[in-house]
Amino acid sequence: MQTADVSPTVRIAAAGDIHCSEPLREHIEQAFAAIAEQADLVLLAGDLTTHGEPEQAAVLADACRGLPVPVYAVLGNHDYHANRCDEVVSVLADAGVTVLSRGSAVQEVNGLEIGIAGAKGFVGGFPGAELPDFGEPLLRQVYAETSEEVAGLEAALEEIAGCHRRIALLHYAPIPETLVGEPETIWAFLGSSRLAGPLGAHRPDLVLHGHAHHGTFAGELGGVPIRNVAVHVTGKDFELFEL
Ligand SMILES: [Fe+2]
Ligand SMILES: [Fe+2]
Repeated sequence: MQTADVSPTVRIAAAGDIHCSEPLREHIEQAFAAIAEQADLVLLAGDLTTHGEPEQAAVLADACRGLPVPVYAVLGNHDYHANRCDEVVSVLADAGVTVLSRGSAVQEVNGLEIGIAGAKGFVGGFPGAELPDFGEPLLRQVYAETSEEVAGLEAALEEIAGCHRRIALLHYAPIPETLVGEPETIWAFLGSSRLAGPLGAHRPDLVLHGHAHHGTFAGELGGVPIRNVAVHVTGKDFELFEL
């Protein structure tokens, strides 16, 4: 337990949509080597690869292997494209990267227990244009998939409820504010307000997502900070947070 006057903090480096592939190898390796000196923890908000090929995941894995700071990630839609997710996760795990899928992890940093609740999230839209649980089985399957993500996020947040700091790591957006800049006609494919339910109930210290490359960095959900850390939005390799 911390008894000193100065509260400990954790420095988090976050990035979404790094879309690794072989041509980016040198840049990725340099960026990760540099951030290891500035952060205690690295969080990646999905779209780790361009098309979900294990060889592309290996570019990230090689940049993370041997890093002195822990790396946690969720997958994004791009990482599913080749339908080789298990191999992608395994390549990353081999390099020490923990991929969370409707799950949680607790990492100790500076005497603090940092809880990370990770889920990719999924589509569905926002009030005014939301996918209903109605009609063709295929559409209802999409709705059900989002329901599973919401339930997984809820359970993961419950698991980290007692941690000193709590972070939710997503790929899809839980609020529309961080989508501003993207055409409103595609917002239903960029996230779902249903993801906001567990976030509003558990009120983590920070919520990170990506996916909306042309979106907006900062939003909030009843005072809970929501940040779109897609590198296209932040304009840098990593966004730094201190909690
Ligand atoms: Fe992306
Ligand atoms: Fe994406």
